[in-house]
Amino acid sequence: MQPVLDYLKQHQARFVAELGDYLRFPSVSAQPQHKKDLLACAQWLVKHCRQIGLEARLCETAGHPIVIAKTKRAAARKGLRALPKPHFMVYGHYDVQPPEPLELWTTPPFEPRIAGRNLFARGSTDNKGQNFAHLKAVEAYLKTGTPLPCDLTFVLEGEEEVGSKNLSTFLKQHRTELACDAIVVSDTGMPAADCPALTYALRGIIAFEITLHGPARDLHSGIFGGAVENPAMALAHLLAKVRDDKGRIQIPGFYDGVAALSKYEREQIKRYPLSDAGLKKLLGSPQLFGETGFTATEQRSSRPTFEINGLTSGYQGEGSKTIVPSWARAKITCRLVPNQKPAHVRKIVCSWLKKNCPPTVRMEISAGHGAEAYMVSPTSAAAQAALRALERAFGTKPVLMREGGSIPIVNEFKQVLGADTLLLGLGLPDDNAHSPNEKFNLDCFENGQRLSAFLWPELAEPV
Ligand code: BES
Ligand code: ZN
Repeated sequence: MQPVLDYLKQHQARFVAELGDYLRFPSVSAQPQHKKDLLACAQWLVKHCRQIGLEARLCETAGHPIVIAKTKRAAARKGLRALPKPHFMVYGHYDVQPPEPLELWTTPPFEPRIAGRNLFARGSTDNKGQNFAHLKAVEAYLKTGTPLPCDLTFVLEGEEEVGSKNLSTFLKQHRTELACDAIVVSDTGMPAADCPALTYALRGIIAFEITLHGPARDLHSGIFGGAVENPAMALAHLLAKVRDDKGRIQIPGFYDGVAALSKYEREQIKRYPLSDAGLKKLLGSPQLFGETGFTATEQRSSRPTFEINGLTSGYQGEGSKTIVPSWARAKITCRLVPNQKPAHVRKIVCSWLKKNCPPTVRMEISAGHGAEAYMVSPTSAAAQAALRALERAFGTKPVLMREGGSIPIVNEFKQVLGADTLLLGLGLPDDNAHSPNEKFNLDCFENGQRLSAFLWPELAEPV
């Protein structure tokens, strides 16, 4: 193990430079104009994986490609019969969120910049920096000739930020090749650079768009206003009814089956080292807001939500334009918690919206992606192995957390491969994931590599 750790230490400067190359690809999966950039990024990854000694290939899909990279199996290495070793998958994504609004970035999102111990670029924490840490740990094993106690397969996809639809198909087609004992994912967070974490639950999600259609075209608001429905007003009225002023969703059945937090979980959550005051400062919001009876950490990790992600109608340009808009649209996502079934929640939310839609407009709802919440035991042998590796890598005891974000594919790993996912996040609360000036902390990068190095022996030979 020492040669692996020494190798990691010696090569940090090069690793950071290589991560910079990875971050220069504008691999924005949501925007069709970046299709070529996703392909180029995937090709770069394949080449890089081969350079560090993995067997790598690019797999075309109906959308963006998937990169598969594996350690060379014993049989292939020596022409001998392979001894069965445990097999673990490392999953990550090379696609990133749209960087807009660009004017809020201090320096351009795809021109990586280092300031102190932070590396700024879109995708740095979510998720290129985090998955690259695992690649660098494997490189250290392979280049120092240190035997790995397990077989590893990296699955790096280009559609996580848009719902992982094609990876889901790929998984079913390659279930034998990808069968494994556990999956390791670093695509979540940790409370602070000196406070590592094992995440044992993620929220699920449903996404959809509502459009309210009013008059056949934008109208002069002086000539017609007052005698015709304004779709933007109708949408505002409708959406305002969804929630009461205490943050409770008013759609009947929305909370059905939502489990109360146990006393143990509430105590664990209290150990999370970010106070409400600290959170308010971090978010730059005039005040915190949330469902009464829950702390901010509980609200954002363990309670379901209804959020407007985007709201569009009428004239958005400079100055004024006196119209009654012809339509209004909202992009909505609900975060779900364990026991809420995405299809059921979608059904009750959409029928409530339809029932409450005034007859003065026509409602159109288009369904987007959906995924169940994820929850896994933090006391399993694999989780205990991961906790030991976290402690060795960071030199301090890890915390257990539930997190509010979603990684839809982890449910399918369980359903299709029958394997649990260990969520070992390296992102910090102030990393600005999905926001302008996204960054990745270089201490988290380096300790993440050490975590990956310690993890394989701990997982392969649990005590
Ligand atoms: N890395 C996040 C997920 C995440 C972030 C989990 C923080 C826990 C804590 C991932 O890249 C992401 O953003 N996922 C999307 C999924 C969606 C598009 C289906 C999300 O959560 O919005
Ligand atoms: Zn993300």
